[in-house]
Amino acid sequence: MSWNRRHLITLEELSLAELEQIHNVAAAFKKVLGRSVKKIPALRGKTIVNLFLEPSTRTRMAFDMAAKRLSADVISFDAASSSTTKGETLRDTAENIAALGADMIVIRHNCAGSPLYLSRILNIPVINAGDGSHEHPTQGLLDTFTMKERLGSLRGRRVVILGDILFSRVARSNIHALVKFGADVTLCGPSTLVPESLRSLGVNVSHDLRSALADAEVVMLLRIQHERQTASMFPSLGEYTSMFGLNRTRAGWLHPNAIIMHPGPINRGVEIDSDLADGDRSVILDQVTNGIAVRMACLYLCAGGRPESVTPAN
Ligand code: CP
Repeated sequence: MSWNRRHLITLEELSLAELEQIHNVAAAFKKVLGRSVKKIPALRGKTIVNLFLEPSTRTRMAFDMAAKRLSADVISFDAASSSTTKGETLRDTAENIAALGADMIVIRHNCAGSPLYLSRILNIPVINAGDGSHEHPTQGLLDTFTMKERLGSLRGRRVVILGDILFSRVARSNIHALVKFGADVTLCGPSTLVPESLRSLGVNVSHDLRSALADAEVVMLLRIQHERQTASMFPSLGEYTSMFGLNRTRAGWLHPNAIIMHPGPINRGVEIDSDLADGDRSVILDQVTNGIAVRMACLYLCAGGRPESVTPAN
């Protein structure tokens, strides 16, 4: 199957076959990253601009490294010293970046829909690196890639996403991917952050932590996103932690081989205790590492790379 998309905006719009294709290409690139020479010439001569208008550590650095491993030139846009501080619009900023010769833009923005908007204006590929509370497609791809590495097929696997679902683009992208992979997904947290309406996405909703975690094979913690909340969704952080924080006792309710995930940044002692974040069952740093190969796959495919050139024919 060939890859026919120029942009990567959401996981909602991708088919199961497309998700699997990205994972297959990422698996091939992960082998490249294990070699002594970790670089291939696939995007030599191309320039990728990382247009991050919201803070990031993992995503921006992983996109930087992914582009460099593919031999592209990379420019990281510095929002604080840019003309956006003088009121320049997103459209003008992006059109100027394209006029300077960028071959691809990776955008993070606090406004949902910004990547889709740019993809309709520009003649170059646009990749969504997180747009408001909407989607974070490469995070959903790297998370499901990491789960498949540990568990094999995700069909019927019990996955719990715990915490601030309402404001989480990570949750939304993971839900779209996990449902297509056939996982049995439960969203858990206070009813203010995990509304019943989310069942329409094909998942279970629970406000009872013990029954949600019972025998789950994956638990993914999410950070409380104060920056996106306009009202108080629970009385205090201490009360959130006492009811929904993952500690050693509660981790004991999970399946014995369960893995613990978190997209970062972690609020240690709030949504997860440090000994679990750093413990044997944690795959949090594997998620970060896998983010490079997964983003290499996304850049490569959206730049017109042929999947069969890096993966064995099926
Ligand atoms: N997971 C994630 O998006 O982290 P950053 O905000 O550091 O990129």
